[in-house]
Amino acid sequence: TGTLKLAVIPGDGIGQEVTAEALKVLEVAAPAGVKFEPTRYDLGAERYLATGEVLPDSVLGEIREHDAILLGAVGGKPNDPNLPPGILERGLLLKLRFELDHYVNLRPSRIFPGVTSPLANPGEVDFVVVREGTEGPYTGNGGALRVGTPAEVATEVSVNTAFGVERVVRDAFARAQRRPRKKLTLVHKTNVLVNAGSVWWRLFQEVAAEYPEVTTDYMHIDAAMIFMTTDPSRFDVIVTDNLFGDIITDLAAAITGGIGLAASGNVNPDRTAPSMFEPVHGSAPDIAGQQKADPTAAILSAALLLDHLGHAEAASVIEDAAIADLAAREAGSTRRTSEVGDAIAARVQG
Ligand code: NAD
Ligand code: IPM
Ligand code: MN
Repeated sequence: TGTLKLAVIPGDGIGQEVTAEALKVLEVAAPAGVKFEPTRYDLGAERYLATGEVLPDSVLGEIREHDAILLGAVGGKPNDPNLPPGILERGLLLKLRFELDHYVNLRPSRIFPGVTSPLANPGEVDFVVVREGTEGPYTGNGGALRVGTPAEVATEVSVNTAFGVERVVRDAFARAQRRPRKKLTLVHKTNVLVNAGSVWWRLFQEVAAEYPEVTTDYMHIDAAMIFMTTDPSRFDVIVTDNLFGDIITDLAAAITGGIGLAASGNVNPDRTAPSMFEPVHGSAPDIAGQQKADPTAAILSAALLLDHLGHAEAASVIEDAAIADLAAREAGSTRRTSEVGDAIAARVQG
């Protein structure tokens, strides 16, 4: 019971549209005695283009004081000369993930009943990717020399610390232990990325010794992509680095019914800062402002938020409502974003 302070960052493009629906559903799903207190932060392309601000420290400080963050998506119009690539992605989204220590980027994938997979025979697909969220090639280490010349050299250095790898591997083992199949697959590229690979491999083996009930598996990233398209039901929990996890989870979304259904949580398991929940998809400039986006991913992300805050029952009410909405969809249905949100909110209300 009490008040839950939510920092809401709708962001850009369809982020605005889908976040409105997620909030709509959260409001009606509030558990008895719980009141949401949303504070909206207008961050993203518009703010940057108007003021040059991406994420001022004072705003980050305010965001820190919330119980959780709900984010839509960031990213402006493609090839806008006034908006260099990465400004918002690095300066806003990744800054939040890094500063708030979201080292577990949790991305569940399931084929919900009635949802069509592009795979002819997908089987029972229900896995979760535990993507490392604060290291890898995302840290901004690297640089460019002799830019614009034929002798240009550009590097992005992948950072893998024993501390960072061990904590996310531990989280993944603990999650696998709690699931019926108790299976954990490490995905990496230890045959080529031998420095990073050896720290992941070693710590994976070390922590495995503490979880005798968890079955372990290892796949190179390239082969894992074969299995994800030919036999995705073999996966239960996958643990992997930041960049591999980014790529895997778009494929995972595609095979389970599309990016419009894929939810995620950027979790700080130590609770030293608020966790952040967002759809896996981006701002989708190609359909922005047209009420064509599917808000299901954002709504399921709101369910992950409630679960993280200890309201598992309210979270499953939202999840069940979204699943029922999916099951009732007619092929070729063209409901507007707000109509999907209304329908799911109505189901939550019973
Ligand atoms: P995207 O996910 O925005 O779009 C990829 C394709 O999926 C597009 O055709 C889009 O219309 C479709 N799509 C995405 N979400 C949908 C939804 N809810 N319903 C229906 N269709 C949907 O990826 P992109 O085009 O590569 O990136 C666009 C911008 O978003 C870039 O600036 C990128 O950096 C940014 N981005 C942000 C995030 C984030 O904020 N977490 C995630 C990915 C990309
Ligand atoms: C995602 C996005 C981000 C990522 C980008 C926009 C920084 O693709 O959330 O999957 O690569 O993590
Ligand atoms: Mn991505």
